[in-house]
Amino acid sequence: MKFVSRHLTVEAPGSELAVFYAFEGKFSANTHLKDADVWFDGYFSNLFSLEQFSGKANETAQVFPKDGIPVKKILLVGLGKKSDLKPEAVREYGGTIGKSLKDFKAETCTVFLPEAKSSVISAVQIGQTVTEGILLGSHTITEYKSDPKPDKLPTEICLSPSAKGMVAAVDKGGAIGEITAWAQNTTRELVSQPAMFLTPTKLAKYAEQFAAEYGFKCKVLSTPDIKKLKMGCLLAVNAGSDQPPKFIVLEYVGPKAHKRKVCLVGKGITFDSGGYSLKDAVNMLDMKGDMAGSACVLTSIAAAARLKLPVHVIGLIPTTENLVSGKGYKPGDILTSYNGKTIEITNTDAEGRLILADGLGYADTFKPDALIDIATLTGAAKIALGYTGAAYFSNDDRLAKKVENAADTSCEKVWRMPLWEGYQEYIKSDLADIKNSAGRAGSLCTSAAFLANFVGNNKWVHIDIAGVDVDVKGGSYVKKGSSGLGARLLIDFLRSW
Ligand code: BES
Ligand code: MN
Ligand code: ZN
Repeated sequence: MKFVSRHLTVEAPGSELAVFYAFEGKFSANTHLKDADVWFDGYFSNLFSLEQFSGKANETAQVFPKDGIPVKKILLVGLGKKSDLKPEAVREYGGTIGKSLKDFKAETCTVFLPEAKSSVISAVQIGQTVTEGILLGSHTITEYKSDPKPDKLPTEICLSPSAKGMVAAVDKGGAIGEITAWAQNTTRELVSQPAMFLTPTKLAKYAEQFAAEYGFKCKVLSTPDIKKLKMGCLLAVNAGSDQPPKFIVLEYVGPKAHKRKVCLVGKGITFDSGGYSLKDAVNMLDMKGDMAGSACVLTSIAAAARLKLPVHVIGLIPTTENLVSGKGYKPGDILTSYNGKTIEITNTDAEGRLILADGLGYADTFKPDALIDIATLTGAAKIALGYTGAAYFSNDDRLAKKVENAADTSCEKVWRMPLWEGYQEYIKSDLADIKNSAGRAGSLCTSAAFLANFVGNNKWVHIDIAGVDVDVKGGSYVKKGSSGLGARLLIDFLRSW
């Protein structure tokens, strides 16, 4: 699908399919629709007066006009209340369009856009969010079907703003939206890949491929380097696996990059069986997706490069499987992490914090101005906040605020949890410096307290995306299955850095 922006009138949508929006409430509040109603013999106003359509968000009606109307197919989509016209409403509008496109089998499609309102939504944001929605809503994964029947999607989508003067801005936003949606859809694809295909080696291959394609640096450390660096945790978690571990180092320095460096660290467990503290069948089911954090780091840095953002960002991805074998690490083992701290293993299923300990310790050597890790870390995050938002922790209010702002603009929700000093008591070990798991009480918070031992003096945010990495139900643009949540959040963080 190619996106273009042109100012078209409803009498000449110039495409096989035209998409109109309708605000909830009075029919007369809908400029484009009111105009279309004239050459459509009052069809749209009738839909409203006969209470067949109310304009509620994501409501749809399909119309196939008879001859004489200059468009073959029409989709009407509810945009919700005019007063609620925020970027998320337009993203949802796009999502509903994206989801419906396959039903129309149209070659070309024109999407009419609502007016920009300086205080609420700009023309750039309209272009970006509608594009994101369309690309996210129409995205499907068919490569594992023996007979994939790809949806017939339009080759061209024309975004038609309400005023001629908005065309350039909508175009600019559309170009951003194409890249952010690419990042999220690529994250979904990586998370959905079976662990038998997406091994740590394969993940590193993707990193190298994106780096070469989009113009950033990528260095992949293999076992000998990891041993030399004394990343004792990554090596221990990897011990039970036949697949070698990797430690992926990404670096992007944009044109006129801000001097202050950002370092992103992503959990890259390509399969989490739990190790000897084995998971049961139900809890093991989604564990091919335990590398969602690393996928977000990779795709957001690739997006930063594609958007040519003026930032200096380093990405670190420790990646391994967590399996069982005669060589596997065991409860009771004591590991030495990259920063020298010793860790008693009380649960081999608390492996994410171990590889992050090495990742965060290594991040400290770059002396970043912001350190953010993202990980499917605890089942407790999923229990606490469900599928609706991610838990996050921070030792710095200003950095926390920046992450919250990015959560607002991307509409990928986060909620702050406490890093109380008291939690350090929970993870004290009799034998080693700390232990990796403290049992059930406060286990979302004790996982973050554990990580705090490895961040040095850096300003740090930890985002736990366990639960939100997979969407159980799906929405307008959020598909059932891997959600790709986190990529847009990180991109917006980098855009506003
Ligand atoms: N990868 C899991 C967390 C997870 C659970 C992610 C559900 C996505 C959905 C993590 O490695 C894990 O097993 N955490 C344990 C920690 C516990 C042993 C302290 C958990 O949360 O049960
Ligand atoms: Mn685990
Ligand atoms: Zn895990």
